Amino acid sequence: KRHLLESSDLDRADATLVLDTAAQIDQALAGREVKKLPTLRGRTVVNLFFEDSTRTRISFELAAKRLSADVINFSAKGSSVSKGESLKDTALTLEAMGADAIVVRHHASGAPHRLANWVKGSVVNAGDGTHEHPTQALLDAYTMRRRLGRLEGLRVGIVGDVLHSRVARSNVRLLHTLGAEVTLVAPPTLLPVGVGSWPADVSYDLDSVLPKVDVVMMLRVQAERMNASFFPSAREYSRRYGLDARRMATLADDAIVMHPGPMNRGMEIAAEVADSVRSTIVEQVGNGVSVRMAVLYLLLGGAPA
Ligand code: CP
Repeated sequence: KRHLLESSDLDRADATLVLDTAAQIDQALAGREVKKLPTLRGRTVVNLFFEDSTRTRISFELAAKRLSADVINFSAKGSSVSKGESLKDTALTLEAMGADAIVVRHHASGAPHRLANWVKGSVVNAGDGTHEHPTQALLDAYTMRRRLGRLEGLRVGIVGDVLHSRVARSNVRLLHTLGAEVTLVAPPTLLPVGVGSWPADVSYDLDSVLPKVDVVMMLRVQAERMNASFFPSAREYSRRYGLDARRMATLADDAIVMHPGPMNRGMEIAAEVADSVRSTIVEQVGNGVSVRMAVLYLLLGGAPA
């Protein structure tokens, strides 16, 4: 495969290969003082970010550097995009300078797909609007598999602002491909039209779902993508859909708590839950580097095309 644009680009064998490759990379680098492999020496990876990011941008940069690629970080702020240059012209400019892979985050759903039609190199979707964030789903699956030993038959609750969440979309599709059972939990106003056709159950009642899941994944309430009529009061939202210590106590003994970050502490997740031993939030970030190394390695291979 040349691109990773959405979770459905990956069948079960592809997704398992990414997870297994990440595990091999972790094993190869464990205990090493210099955490670097020569695999992508001479290749160039461009991080093309039109939307803010902490985890995804830094972990793609680190992943590419650990594979010895040259890395260019492009942020729309401060570039010729502010003079009106289009996504296409920006991409062709980067390709003319030798980009082998473009990792793109964009506020418009579908932007990475358009980019993939214009450039010869690989395109990796690092989050497009409310559409998809496939490497987040891969790192989440990797974290679940590491913590719980399996994905097949795993019961996963994804809770909160599903409507605006590219993380939820990518996770539902990937987890379904990998044999997990997903329940989406949200107020009706924060579920997308057409959610009935997703491969997931839907519930409005967090308390009834929590005792039945192996994983609870809390989603950030994306206030910046909502207009005022959609935005629930923080107190009411947190009372009905927030994960606090009382609710966490109703989870099964070995169940884990996930969040892709950034978090609204005190809204969808209480600080004591985010910092608890059940939380994999920091681990997810670390696993993101290994999974993104695996994705770049598998897309670009060792030798120039
Ligand atoms: N989870 C995630 O995509 O975080 P960033 O927005 O910080 O990259």
